[in-house]
Amino acid sequence: MNRFDPWGEQMRVDPLPTLARMRAEAPIVRLFNPHQSAPEWRVTRYADVVELLRDNRFSKDKRKLSDAARSRYFRVSEFDRLDKHMLYADPPEHTRLRALVAKAFTPRRIMELRPYVAEATERLLDPVERQESVDLLDALAFRLPIAVLAQLIGVPVEDQERFREWTRILIAPPSEGDFDALRRMVIEFQQYLEEFLALRRRRPRDDLTSALIKAQTQSDRLSSVELMSMIFLLIAAGFETTGNLIGNGVWALLRHPAELRRLRTTPALIEPAIEEVLRYCPPVKNSTGAFPLTDVEFRGTVIPAEELVVASLLSAHHDEAQFPEPDRFDITRTPNRHLGFGLGLHFCLGASLARLEATVAIGTVVRRFPGLQFAVDPDTLRWKDGVFVHGLEQLPVTWGVR
Ligand code: HEM
Repeated sequence: MNRFDPWGEQMRVDPLPTLARMRAEAPIVRLFNPHQSAPEWRVTRYADVVELLRDNRFSKDKRKLSDAARSRYFRVSEFDRLDKHMLYADPPEHTRLRALVAKAFTPRRIMELRPYVAEATERLLDPVERQESVDLLDALAFRLPIAVLAQLIGVPVEDQERFREWTRILIAPPSEGDFDALRRMVIEFQQYLEEFLALRRRRPRDDLTSALIKAQTQSDRLSSVELMSMIFLLIAAGFETTGNLIGNGVWALLRHPAELRRLRTTPALIEPAIEEVLRYCPPVKNSTGAFPLTDVEFRGTVIPAEELVVASLLSAHHDEAQFPEPDRFDITRTPNRHLGFGLGLHFCLGASLARLEATVAIGTVVRRFPGLQFAVDPDTLRWKDGVFVHGLEQLPVTWGVR
């Protein structure tokens, strides 16, 4: 029986009290994950999370695990053709894979996308203005990242509903019994990517996928499975996360009207405001797991080889030892060394892109809808059930036209 239940309903509805207890009573704790029928360690204090994310004794590469451990934690073998990507690799593979796309994500290259992001945001909001209320997640938050990925990677924007469905399922793995549905999704997504890559091979364009195909044919630095996994990762990592950052940001501002007023008075505060959303309500609440390959002593606790260790970013962000008054939403919080994009080797490649999209999207919503408010009682809003992502199921808003 677990002392704490990070998988229970209470965690979805109101996770902070449980996380505070974990930080106080058992900051590095071994639990039993009922969905995987396997042990899982949770690290919840800020200082420990920082150390864990920097500690290269923990591997992300499931291929280094014994067969027994691999089959315990990775139940859907169909994933094998989609997960040969940098997030699940250690150096030197990690270094090679990341270097292939790093140039496309530098802050400078990303700033070149700003006019496109601004134009896409205005275009998505035009029809919104003519309605009385909308689900902002549906109307903007999830459409914008797809429009941007379409521009960057070259995937057709018309397929956005399918991406949304696929990434939702993949990011929030089903509980026991739903594994068949997950298998079907993985196979469908894989077939889709195969067709998309075949099309780009025949008809290259000025996009990242075509550049990677070119790199692949000119050298042996990227296998076909790695190429497919790379595109998969960019879609999976860049879509639901950014959508939730926009959604969580609007939610947090509407929940804290005084902060929203400060932002309206001083629009330049949008940048620190986005950092505070990433801290207060991070779209990625847990890091992906890592495994020690031998028994390791970590901050005074022995973690046995091949047991999954997960860092709770949400908990670290509410650790009073790092952030004074951590449960207060303060758009000018300084310093604000949040871990919303992770840390160390696997620090989010898309951080500049996510910041750009959220800054433009939330900044534009605040400017264009001065009467913005919840269209339903905010206490009735539901948070998604998920291991990694932290976001709302819907965000109905109106702007006082009624
Ligand atoms: C608000 C939006 C986003 C958040 C909160 C976020 C968060 C994160 C986090 C926490 C990690 C580290 C995971 C770990 O250590 O287990 C990560 C890694 C990564 N993210 Fe993001 N991400 C966002 C948007 C994006 C976008 C837009 C892209 C690209 C299109 C992207 C691509 C990646 C990649 C490729 C990695 C793996 C990097 C590596 O392994 O070296 N992310 N992200």
